Amino acid sequence: MSDKKTGILLLSHGSRLDDGEDVIKAYKEMYLEEFPDAIVEYGFMEIRKPGIPETIKMLTEQADLEKIIVVPVFVAHGLHTKRDIPTLLGIESDYEADDHGHHHHHHDHGHDHGHHHHHHHDHDDEEVEFDGEIVLTEPLGVDKRMYEIIKDRVSDYL
Ligand code: NI
Repeated sequence: MSDKKTGILLLSHGSRLDDGEDVIKAYKEMYLEEFPDAIVEYGFMEIRKPGIPETIKMLTEQADLEKIIVVPVFVAHGLHTKRDIPTLLGIESDYEADDHGHHHHHHDHGHDHGHHHHHHHDHDDEEVEFDGEIVLTEPLGVDKRMYEIIKDRVSDYL
C-alpha cells in the first residue's frame, strides 16, 4: 500500500450492542496488519458513533487525501446502501425518487431491528466535508468465500 492519498472507510450499519463494532474493528485491524501504511477507519451509518461525517474527518486528518473508498460491509444492497449512505456521504445516488419527486425518509427497509428508523433522525446536522472523490463500493454480495462461511455455520450443527 503506497498510495497515501487514498483513505478507506469500512462502513457498518450501527447497533446499540457492541458486537457489530467488535467485528468491524477487527476487520480494520486485519487490513492494517496486511497494509500497515493504509489510512483506514471504521464507522457507522446510524445509531452508533463514529458516524459518517466524523469518520471522514478522522481520515482526512491523517493525510491530504484525494480519494476515500467507502466499503459498505453489508451482505446486500438495500435502501441504506442505495439511498441513505449516498445521501449521508453527499454523493450521487442511483436510487429513484418516488412519483411525488421526494424520498420517503420513514422507510420500511425489510430488516427488522426494532424502532431504529426513529434514529434516522439522530444524525448530527454535521455534513461530510471532503473536497476529493468519494467512491462507494458494492456490498459483499454473492461470493464463494461467503458461501464457505455459511456451510461452516451449518456444519457446526450437523
Ligand atoms: Ni437500518
